[in-house]
Amino acid sequence: MPLDHPAFASSQTLYSPALAKELAPLYEKLKSVIPAMEWPIFAPLIHEINALKKERNAVILAHNYQTPEIFHGVADIVGDSLQLAREAMGVEADVIVQCGVHFMAETAKLMNPQKTVLLPDQGAGCSLAESITPEDVRTLRQLHPGVPIVTYINTSAAVKAECDMCCTSSNAVQVVESFGVDRVILVPDEYLAQNVNAQTAVEVIAFNGRCEVHERFSAEELREYRAGFTGLKIIAHPECPPEVLDEADFAGSTASMIKWVQDHQPEKVLMVTECSMSDNVAVENPEVNFVRPCNLCPHMKKITLQNILYALRYNRHEIIIDPQVAAPARRAVERMIALPV
Ligand code: 13P
Ligand code: SF4
Repeated sequence: MPLDHPAFASSQTLYSPALAKELAPLYEKLKSVIPAMEWPIFAPLIHEINALKKERNAVILAHNYQTPEIFHGVADIVGDSLQLAREAMGVEADVIVQCGVHFMAETAKLMNPQKTVLLPDQGAGCSLAESITPEDVRTLRQLHPGVPIVTYINTSAAVKAECDMCCTSSNAVQVVESFGVDRVILVPDEYLAQNVNAQTAVEVIAFNGRCEVHERFSAEELREYRAGFTGLKIIAHPECPPEVLDEADFAGSTASMIKWVQDHQPEKVLMVTECSMSDNVAVENPEVNFVRPCNLCPHMKKITLQNILYALRYNRHEIIIDPQVAAPARRAVERMIALPV
């Protein structure tokens, strides 16, 4: 690996007593989820990223699955996919650094095309986004003439450009019902489509994409957790298989799962989703005990403080979308954003 690789990007600041004091309130908040021996590595990077953000007039958007040092240490705006898309629209700064995966950075660019949008690691993909191509969507249109095609936001701009409207896990039922027709195709997440189908009178035709993180959860595993932890509440993401959702007390997008914990303050909770989210939520809900089956998203975990610093220093990696693709893709996202909240 070359020495100027983002993995080696280091801060020019040392972990001094002054820096320790400056960031002491942040570490106090994060100490339950970040070991003391890691803090001297993170603190100078956090300090430098926050300074560089001001210098470059940049904002950092971070998805709920980012690690706590990113989520709580450098992010200006955090949220689920829908919140991040909406927030990207209103950014006035010159630069948006997207701490999430590639489709999220593309969505930010679609929503605010005049801004420089950076993704700290170009390899931060998504198994759902990779499961479908524009050609697949064209084939579905031929197979089901006249049936509207909804794309989950976890797709490339090129796939969005072929679809009628976008949706996220927080508004999929509303989007499917908004067409006022009997049948709608929802791509690419097979489980999300099945879970939406169970909540609406509209027939939802599925594709065969899967999230490599959520497909691994099983109903049996959840039953074992329930048997092992009396009073355990289980909340799950709708990318999980339907039988997993059947075992859950609540299902919703990452933002709705967080809200559920904040509102209900359960004594014990298991969040059936990517595991950094439990850390991020635990920091702000100290009375709640989190049971953690740890399924990591390898793509989300490609974003690090080192490559965020590198992104801001060297303007890497800029998201560029072919204008011919961007216009129809933007329409699909804007139709979703225009729905009443
Ligand atoms: P949310 O929109 O619920 O944040 O989901 C995004 C995602 O990639 C979940 O795996
Ligand atoms: Fe994609 Fe699943 Fe990772 Fe979300 S958790 S980014 S859906 S692979």
